[in-house]
Amino acid sequence: MKVLVIGSGGREHALVWALAQDPEVRDIVAAPGNPGIAVLQPGHDGQTIVCRSVDIADHDAVVALATEFGADLVVVGPEAPLVAGLADPLREAGIAVFGPSKDSAQIEGSKAFAKDVMAAASVPTGRAYVCTTPEEAAEAIDAFGPPYVVKDDGLAAGKGVVVTSDRDEALAHAAGCEQVLIEEFLDGPEVSLFAITDGTTVLPMQPAQDFKRLADNDEGPNTGGMGAYTPLPWAPEKLVEEITEKVLQPTVDELRRRGMPFSGLLYAGLALTSRGLRVIEFNCRFGDPETQALLPLLKTPLGGLLYAAATGKLTDHGPLSWRSAAAVTVVVAAKKYPANPRKGDVITGIDQAEVDDVRVFHAGTALEDDELVTSGGRVLAVSATGKDLDEARQRAYAAIGQIRIKGSQHRTDIALKAARGEITV
Ligand code: AMP
Ligand code: GLY
Repeated sequence: MKVLVIGSGGREHALVWALAQDPEVRDIVAAPGNPGIAVLQPGHDGQTIVCRSVDIADHDAVVALATEFGADLVVVGPEAPLVAGLADPLREAGIAVFGPSKDSAQIEGSKAFAKDVMAAASVPTGRAYVCTTPEEAAEAIDAFGPPYVVKDDGLAAGKGVVVTSDRDEALAHAAGCEQVLIEEFLDGPEVSLFAITDGTTVLPMQPAQDFKRLADNDEGPNTGGMGAYTPLPWAPEKLVEEITEKVLQPTVDELRRRGMPFSGLLYAGLALTSRGLRVIEFNCRFGDPETQALLPLLKTPLGGLLYAAATGKLTDHGPLSWRSAAAVTVVVAAKKYPANPRKGDVITGIDQAEVDDVRVFHAGTALEDDELVTSGGRVLAVSATGKDLDEARQRAYAAIGQIRIKGSQHRTDIALKAARGEITV
């Protein structure tokens, strides 16, 4: 099988790495890919892994590349091309695509659309008002009271949500958005659950947890995600079954009923509140950095799985199988991320960091005169596996100790509370 992977971030690096381990996957093209993907070793004899530059906003160019390469499967990684509808012309060209259509990708592209689908499918989520003027927003903000949750309706790369007890800050964020959602505050630990779906059948992965705030102890601004771990030793038994039954399957069924079947990865971000589970958000693609923690533990060959979803054959695919180990991913971010990440800082030590059980996935790197430098906010995702979270944490942080980037930032407490047994539902 020949696979084209669209995207250039950490999750695409992890996807290409995992696809390369599948004996059925022969050639992989990553477009545009990144410097880490460019030096990935083939997973088996005869396999090739190549990066090709392409403007992923130019849908004709992507279709031309997929056709020229003879792709059996195209995997679209990031949300922006999915929400812009890249999967549609690829499918029209007769190519199997892992990733939702433009219509169904609205589940991530518009929070108001997602709320409407959840209401129709009786999926539990926070109460919310959709507001288009500052006056409406102020009324909703005062109706809920603090802490205030203010969400930009559209795509915002993980930075559109402000949770604050400062009324002026909440009003200011609302005023800066065209359409805004004011939502009730949801308390309790958060879970990310990813499901592979072909629009009918839903195959959940194991749950992971993401760390959205920049600094230790969940302080500082929201980010795209500063780290992740899996599995969740504190999760209630039957959590995955409950989320599948109450959230994932009804959402997939409702989208199909609307004539916009969702095929690809449905990502549910949830809060486990004292009143039961509530959806915080849906994403229409693999999450970042949870993917970098999950894929090193997935035993099921990834190419066959994504191809089965893309061709509507998931009913014939058995359940997923996982290594009985733990994985911890720590993101190394550039100086001044997320406000104004500095580019061009030299990166060293990756070779020393990548010992057994450790993978360093590139997210915001570039080559400048043969030197590896920072080129984005989240620069690297360091993933380690171990027999438990403690061992995986130790390995991840030992690897980070080898990496040098001037002014870089990372959290020191990824998976710490879970490893100490301090999370309760
Ligand atoms: P989102 O982009 O919708 O996932 O929101 C980013 C982060 O903001 C989430 O991971 C939560 O930590 C926080 N958040 C979003 N909505 C709520 C809510 N209703 N109550 C509490 N925290 C929230
Ligand atoms: N981990 C958060 C995201 O991918 O949006």
